[in-house]
Amino acid sequence: MHINPERSDRPDYALLERQVESVLEGERSLIANAAQFSALVYDTLADLNWAGFYFTVAARKGEGQDLLVGPFQGKPACARIAFGRGVCGTSAVEGKTIVVADVHAFPGHIACDSASNSEIVIPLIKDGAVLGVFDIDSPVLNRFSEEDRAGLERMVAAFLDGTDFS
Ligand code: SME
Repeated sequence: MHINPERSDRPDYALLERQVESVLEGERSLIANAAQFSALVYDTLADLNWAGFYFTVAARKGEGQDLLVGPFQGKPACARIAFGRGVCGTSAVEGKTIVVADVHAFPGHIACDSASNSEIVIPLIKDGAVLGVFDIDSPVLNRFSEEDRAGLERMVAAFLDGTDFS
């Protein structure tokens, strides 16, 4: 098993924010930056089984919007999630970060990987529009603290600053 000696339960989020800027420097492409960002998160934080993006797209049928899977690390996941469904769709509709201590207790949670026990979903908001979400799953119950939420929101903000969506 690969063990990253920098992995920690109490990561230095100020340092991680600078690492996001450094990894994305000189490149603003969405797919490239999203791939790099998900790899950085997955490789640096302890006890994760999935970390990646869903991007906002038009729904295939009828009206409304879906979330379509983008670059990620972990097992293959659900490709498409309707706005309003699951933790990801709820975060997208509300435009707010959602921390779920026990996914089995979250009504409508979508189980992509049975190893997941807790989850954090951070919306990607630029100029008031929800462009997608960044989703992180953990096999550990109650994995994501208030410190993790604040730190991951800073990392996502650095990703958004360094990336073009058009
Ligand atoms: N559990 C998520 C679905 C995405 S996967 O975990 C990768 C949800 O309920 O929205």
